[in-house]
Amino acid sequence: MVSLQLDFVKGFLQDHEMDQAQPFIASIHQQLHQGTAPGSDFLGWLRLPSETLRRGVEPILSAAAAIQEQADALVVIGIGGSYLGARAAFEWLKPDYYNQLTRSVRGGPELYFVGNHISSDAVQDLLRVLEGKRVAINVISKSGTTTEPAIGFRLLRDFLIQQVGETEAKKRIYATTDQSKGALKNLADAEGYRSFVIPDDVGGRYSVLTPVGLLPLAAIGVDIVSLLEGARDAERALSVDRLVDNPAYQYAVLRNQLYRKGYTTEILAHFEPALHFFAEWWKQLFGESEGKDQQGVFPASVGYSTDLHSMGQYVQEGYRNLFETLVDVRAVRHPVSVPPAPIEDGLAYLAGKDLSFINEKARMAIQQAHAEGGVPNCMVSVADRSAHSLGELFYFFELACAASGLLMGINPFNQPGVENYKTKMFKLLGKPGYQD
Ligand code: PA5
Repeated sequence: MVSLQLDFVKGFLQDHEMDQAQPFIASIHQQLHQGTAPGSDFLGWLRLPSETLRRGVEPILSAAAAIQEQADALVVIGIGGSYLGARAAFEWLKPDYYNQLTRSVRGGPELYFVGNHISSDAVQDLLRVLEGKRVAINVISKSGTTTEPAIGFRLLRDFLIQQVGETEAKKRIYATTDQSKGALKNLADAEGYRSFVIPDDVGGRYSVLTPVGLLPLAAIGVDIVSLLEGARDAERALSVDRLVDNPAYQYAVLRNQLYRKGYTTEILAHFEPALHFFAEWWKQLFGESEGKDQQGVFPASVGYSTDLHSMGQYVQEGYRNLFETLVDVRAVRHPVSVPPAPIEDGLAYLAGKDLSFINEKARMAIQQAHAEGGVPNCMVSVADRSAHSLGELFYFFELACAASGLLMGINPFNQPGVENYKTKMFKLLGKPGYQD
């Protein structure tokens, strides 16, 4: 189960400051579980793991099997909450360089993402890679009207039609969208695409455990039942309102207390390159949930050791408004030890030591040094890089984010600010109805 270590927060927060939050947490817990919290139309994620497991995932597994048969490469089209969860899980669960491995080692089609930018160069580069491959598309948009994925979908759909013709293309397009409305829903119905529903009561950034994440992940051979079971286990373990028993609520409280003391930027730090997109998912979850009403902790991220040699100086000695949350994966998949040096290079003392041992010491050194430099830091740990552990962690942060936003007094489930740039972009593009 997910654990939270608070050793390096203690010098910055007194125990009684955490304890004082108990009545607020009890009330928030009740609001969430009774469906009376602000934004309560979007509480479907709260019991999503157990309910999805109860209903079963057969339609997803059957579509995934069809994609595996049809395609050498699956292209997932989506942005924000319709993109980052699947990308985070893909990179967390699958080996680095997945697409370069042979099909039999990969166990599924290659996986690519588009529709999360408007870069012609990036699209063109992808189309070149797809040339000569059998392609399937999973287009994902809850609203069905978001510009970036809509453009990406047009381009990929045209590519697919040119490759295999209209009739076959329709069999290789999978749409994940709203149950009843939106342009994508209408198109999927008209064209007969196999479709999956994003529940009305689950917002984009909370949707990784719906078909948004589950279908592409199942298509590349991820054990989605295990992912859901991990989340379901966290759902059960974190369904208590007592702060001492609930690390997700403790984390929500500590970030609120630190925020009130002037620690307005939180850095999510990890020690595995495979967690880069997990941090991107986390940034969206917290940034879009809390950043409103001129409030909110600014979520940033670093990947160590890489960023120790770029951002490390700032974290250690820069402007003191930072706190850090380390994500630690306890067991590595592949032990690798340092070979003996052919010449004396000052590193002989490391010969035979495992990289994970050295990585752990780097992490412990960072915790001590950053706390000494005035950066409170906590550590969230999971057992390993399995689907089960990732499911636990997704749920842990979703619950923590909801509680944290509610403690801040904001509605963590809407995103009114995202619309502003869209209106201005539509005006600049000359979209009918937006000129004035
Ligand atoms: O979390 C959110 O609500 C957003 O990030 C959306 O997921 C994102 O804007 C994409 O929206 P849609 O799925 O409607 O295309």
